[in-house]
Amino acid sequence: MRIEPFRLERYFAAHEFRVKHVLSASDCESLSLAGLLEMASPETAELWRGLRLGYTESQGHPRLREEIAGLYESVAPEGVVVAAPEEAIFIAMHALLAPDEHVIVLAPAYQSLHEVPRSIGCEVTPWPLEAGAHGWRLDIGRLESSFTERTRMLVVNFPHNPTGAMPTRAELEAIVALAASRGAWLLSDEMYRLLEHDSADRLPAVADLYDRGISLSGLSKAFGLPGLRIGWLAARDPALPARFLALKDYTTICSSAPSEVLAIAALGARDRILARNLAIVRTNVAEAERFFATHADSFDWLAPRAGSVAFPRWRGEGTADRLCSGLLDSSGVMLVPGSLFNATGEHVRIGLGRRDLPEGLALLGKFLSSTC
Ligand SMILES: Cc1ncc(COP(=O)(O)O)c(C=O)c1O
Repeated sequence: MRIEPFRLERYFAAHEFRVKHVLSASDCESLSLAGLLEMASPETAELWRGLRLGYTESQGHPRLREEIAGLYESVAPEGVVVAAPEEAIFIAMHALLAPDEHVIVLAPAYQSLHEVPRSIGCEVTPWPLEAGAHGWRLDIGRLESSFTERTRMLVVNFPHNPTGAMPTRAELEAIVALAASRGAWLLSDEMYRLLEHDSADRLPAVADLYDRGISLSGLSKAFGLPGLRIGWLAARDPALPARFLALKDYTTICSSAPSEVLAIAALGARDRILARNLAIVRTNVAEAERFFATHADSFDWLAPRAGSVAFPRWRGEGTADRLCSGLLDSSGVMLVPGSLFNATGEHVRIGLGRRDLPEGLALLGKFLSSTC
């Protein structure tokens, strides 16, 4: 297997822990260990106190799989495999794809969603989200014409990273119907689900809509707990977990014992955690709207509808790459250019989940006035 460097992750590795403000983080403000343990039920607190640091069950702690299954209408705990989110992408694709098969992937995308299938030897066709004057739109007709006889999998990610776009319910149903009519797997990266800015926009999980649908999610983004490295694959097909676990034996074998118990605590307190994080995101969206309205000569805002990121269009002089490197060097603010997502057009990703967004935006504003 030959796999390309993950450009976004390398960029984070180079800058994330050295800058003053990460204005492009995709996760929500993280919780502390003490804060999370305070929310644990008495039973989970007991699990934590008595925890032994041995190997754990490869598929995931039975209590954790019960909590995860509770997020879906029609997924049983037996249909859940716990894995780090990035690992889950890797094992799902390696379990279900073979060289020369065809895969359609929503674009732009988190790189592993298209690079892992490419590295397996699949032909990958991007399905582009299109930037309109104020927001993002999907072309279902274009998706339909992208299917071939060899299409084995369609990969989507809603709420979408990096744009914050969401389909309508009718569009999601059309996507599922197209995958079903071709018998294709539908791998749905739902890492930002449960963080809809208006809860009326929440869509069903794909695992609940389609028997060949796989919902991939985790605690890194909406829950603000990326340090746990806990995610999962959830599906109705009873044959899938064994196929995923055959690969997990070659990645981590089993998940971290402390992380599993902390994940049980987080899912048990999900209403509180999600309400906290959504409040941060909503405040930041309002702040960002004000900022981009006063800098409308430099950016088109392109409002996100869900999740913790947005992808405004850069309209100023030079490229978005040059804007980001200038801001990094002069102000210690890290902004991710759209080129790291292979995005067409000039865009930057704004993270909406961190409490220091106002400081980061203020420094961006200063930088713009010093250079324009
Ligand atoms: C859409 C999407 N899927 C998966 C992941 C991987 O999550 P993690 O970094 O927690 O493994 C990310 C992380 O940014 C993401 O944005």
